Order: sequence, then C-alpha cells, then structure tokens
Amino acid sequence: MALVLGIETSCDETAVGIVDGRKLLANVISSSVEQHVRFGGVVPEVASRAHLEAMPQVIKQALKTARVSIKDIDAIAVTAGPGLIGALLVGVSSASALSLALNKPLYGVNHLSAHIAVDQLDTEKQITPTIALLVSGGHSSILKVKNLVNDVQVLGATIDDAAGEAFDKIARVMDLGFPGGPVIDRVAKEGNFDSINFPRGLTGTVESANHKFDFSFSGLKTAVARYIEQTPNYRKADVAASFQEAVVDVLISKSVSACIESGIDNLVIAGGVAANSRLRQLAQERCQTSQIKLSIPPAALCTDNGAMVAALGSLAISEGVQPSQIGIEANSAASLTQVVW
Ligand code: KG4
Ligand code: ZN
Repeated sequence: MALVLGIETSCDETAVGIVDGRKLLANVISSSVEQHVRFGGVVPEVASRAHLEAMPQVIKQALKTARVSIKDIDAIAVTAGPGLIGALLVGVSSASALSLALNKPLYGVNHLSAHIAVDQLDTEKQITPTIALLVSGGHSSILKVKNLVNDVQVLGATIDDAAGEAFDKIARVMDLGFPGGPVIDRVAKEGNFDSINFPRGLTGTVESANHKFDFSFSGLKTAVARYIEQTPNYRKADVAASFQEAVVDVLISKSVSACIESGIDNLVIAGGVAANSRLRQLAQERCQTSQIKLSIPPAALCTDNGAMVAALGSLAISEGVQPSQIGIEANSAASLTQVVW
C-alpha cells in the first residue's frame, strides 16, 4: 500500500490530501473564495497568488492530520489539468519540487478523473464497470468507465454551459452571491420545486434523438431570467427550487437511461454539483426504482479537494501506471483521455 500525498490547485482551493492505499488520512483545504466574491467569479491571478501563499501551511497541516512525516510519503500526485493555467502551475511546481527533494515518484493527474476516483476511498467496493455522471463548475458529462486510468468512454456532454456554471449564473441573476450552487441548494429547501415548469434541455423527441446523453442548460438559464424579469414579486425560493429541479431531473434521467441502455447497473455521481442535496435525493429514488447501485462520495469530497488527487494517484500506482516525468506541463484544457501525464 502506498502513502500518497495529493495536491490540488486547479481553481480557488489550495488543497492537500493524504491517502494510504484506499484509506483517507487527511484532507486539508484552504479556499480563496472570499477574495473572489466581490468579482462574482474566480479571478485567476488572485487564485494563483493565494495558492503560493497557502501551499506550505496546507502541506504541513495535512501531514500533521495524517500523523505522518514527509519522509514517509511514497509518491506525490498533483492535478495537472484541466483548470486555470496559473493556478495549475503552482501545484505542479510544488509537487515537482517535493518529488525531486524526496526522490519519490510524481504523478500528474486529471482533475476530472480524480473527482470520480475519490469515490473509492474508505470502501472495498468495486465500482467498475460503471456509468459516471461528472458534474462540476466547468464540466458535465456522462461516461462509461471500465477502468478509470485507461478505459473511459464519453457518452455525452454539455453542448453549452456546465451544470455548476448554470447554478452560478442563476444565483447571480437572483443576487444570491457566489458560488451559486450551495446557496441555491439552501434557498430551494424553502421553495416548491414544481411551482414553475422550467424547460428540460435536450429531452424533446427530436433533440434527444441526436443528443441522447448530452446536456444543454442555456435555454433553461434564459427561461429563468425571463421569468424573473416578467414576475416583479417572484419568490426566490420557488424559482431556486424549480430551476434546481429542472437541472437535476435531466442529469439523473439521462444517467439512468445510460445505465439501462449500456446494461451497466452501477452509477457514480461526482464533481461539485454532486454535493447538491436534491440531486442526491432524486438519484437515490430513481436508482432504487431502476435497480441501479448508486454511489456518491460524501458531499465534502464532491467539491474540489486534495484527497481526490491522492486517490487517483494511488489508483494509478495500483494499476501499474508509470510515473510522470519531472518537467511535465500543466494542460489547462486537458480532456478525459489524458488521465496520467
Ligand atoms: O468540482 P467543483 O468543486 O469545481 C470544479 O471542478 O469546477 O465544482 C464547483 C461547482 C460550482 O459551480 C458550484 O456552484 C457547484 O459546483 N456546487 C453546487 C453545490 N456545491 C457546489 N451545485 C449545486 N449544489 C451544491 N450544493
Ligand atoms: Zn472540480
């Protein structure tokens, strides 16, 4: 079993996780989100500087929490893409320096695959083959995963906004703040999810013939904005709940269809939006009805963290994947085919 330290800096979280094989030992996160709130979105330069400042302390705290010394670490894993290039560079440089100083292997890994890998921590269950719904701030895809490190097929993806992006934009329209997902989740609890019938993108007969497992959230976004404009005394809680329902309804129904069509009865849901309480509830209900085994990481491990990076590094080691070269280049636009650099 390998003791792996994972570093994540692709967006606004400076995060370090430590795992021993599949066992989670530490997960420390320092977020610069407060510094971005007044801009209504993450400012790349501000995020990069915050990573530089936070990194040493976050690493120290993770080692302390895991009760291990830096010399005990067997391998370093780091998010090498996708993400903000300046932010990624801070993580990749830190990980490369550690790898050189400790003379331990380096694994540059894909952030999106890492979101899925975190589901394997602290459990013996075998999740593959599985259908994976990956829903984050920048991505929304349905994947057929036979082996997370070398056999992942994209069945569908968003043709415009990502699910998390839709949450963030709608929260902005309603002046609820940033990031939008957690606040919409909270406000929606006071609302009625079937009070407004917002459109479900790419679910009509004609559209779904060409885009069976694809998503589109831009029509929904426009419909919500128009509703707000035309309804002066609208109830925020009802709009939040109805909007959220339209998103999660489509996400779950297409994922369940992908399971049925491919004859795979495992579904993993991962990424920041998987922290959504209504998504978790609806997925549970629908998977039970369709006899699909559902797995969603604990909410705290769905949003960006270092444990997921360590988890993917650990999986790569157990699959016999070769380490990365020192000098690997971060790739801000990495696709799911580039799992380990
Ligand atoms: O995976 P993640 O932490 O970062 C990226 O890789 O993008 O996902 C962040 C996204 C944001 O858009 C955020 O609004 C959304 O996940 N999110 C949520 C919730 N918590 C975070 N969306 C809906 N409900 C939530 N509870
Ligand atoms: Zn993420």
